[in-house]
Amino acid sequence: MEVPGLEKVLIYETVGSTNDEAKLLAREGYPEGTLVIAEEQTKGRGRKGRDWFSVPGKSLTFSLLLRPPQSTSLALLCALSCAWALEEKGFHVLLRWPNDILLGDKKVGGILVESSFSGDELLCVVVGVGINVNETREDFPPPLRESATSLFLASSCMWQRGEVLRSFLSFFFPVYFAWKERGGDFSPWIEDYEKRSSLLGKEVVVRWGERTVRGVARGVKEDGSLVLANFEGETLVSWGEATLHEGER
Ligand code: BTN
Repeated sequence: MEVPGLEKVLIYETVGSTNDEAKLLAREGYPEGTLVIAEEQTKGRGRKGRDWFSVPGKSLTFSLLLRPPQSTSLALLCALSCAWALEEKGFHVLLRWPNDILLGDKKVGGILVESSFSGDELLCVVVGVGINVNETREDFPPPLRESATSLFLASSCMWQRGEVLRSFLSFFFPVYFAWKERGGDFSPWIEDYEKRSSLLGKEVVVRWGERTVRGVARGVKEDGSLVLANFEGETLVSWGEATLHEGER
């Protein structure tokens, strides 16, 4: 695959998690732009310590090894690149802050950004992407059947996973290098991100750990944080999981 920025490609039949594999490769000195793809993950991880469900031969699961100076807002840049890639194929994509990729109100993909440090020094960042490509409804376990979808379910067409990946990478790398040059400032992409936000203007609840913040989503900031407006004024939220407040659609 010829994509500027892509340095090395490792394809595995089975791994625990492509994110873990990419972290190991980082320690062995593999360069920025190393891509790890797996047909099957036995310990695929989602955010908040959840498992990531995928189906060999149908799902797209990969990780990119990157070496940016910092990682704030990288998840949003990656989610936006996924949106562009799927829009190129004709899908109407929504983004749920920080990094869920939706078709309608169902999740078609997710991103897990993990940073490795030595003391205070950021050694590398691994961006893991999972996209449901050719799964049927029966492929999903019952708890996911209502909340998850795939490109196949949304279009009644089978898609080539390699083509979805190629498209993602060719959108991602140019903006990644521009973002890196700007020291991780997300400003140029805020409008593009907000246009696709599933939360904007809606009453949202963000939870992280024991904490909860509620407010109307007003937008995102240059560091990737979400702006919530409530009776206390504006609150910037940098972490957590956003859901619509009951009654919002
Ligand atoms: C989420 O939405 O919770 C994030 C899901 C991220 C899943 C991908 S699949 C490839 C990479 N390897 C993992 O173990 N997780 C990420």
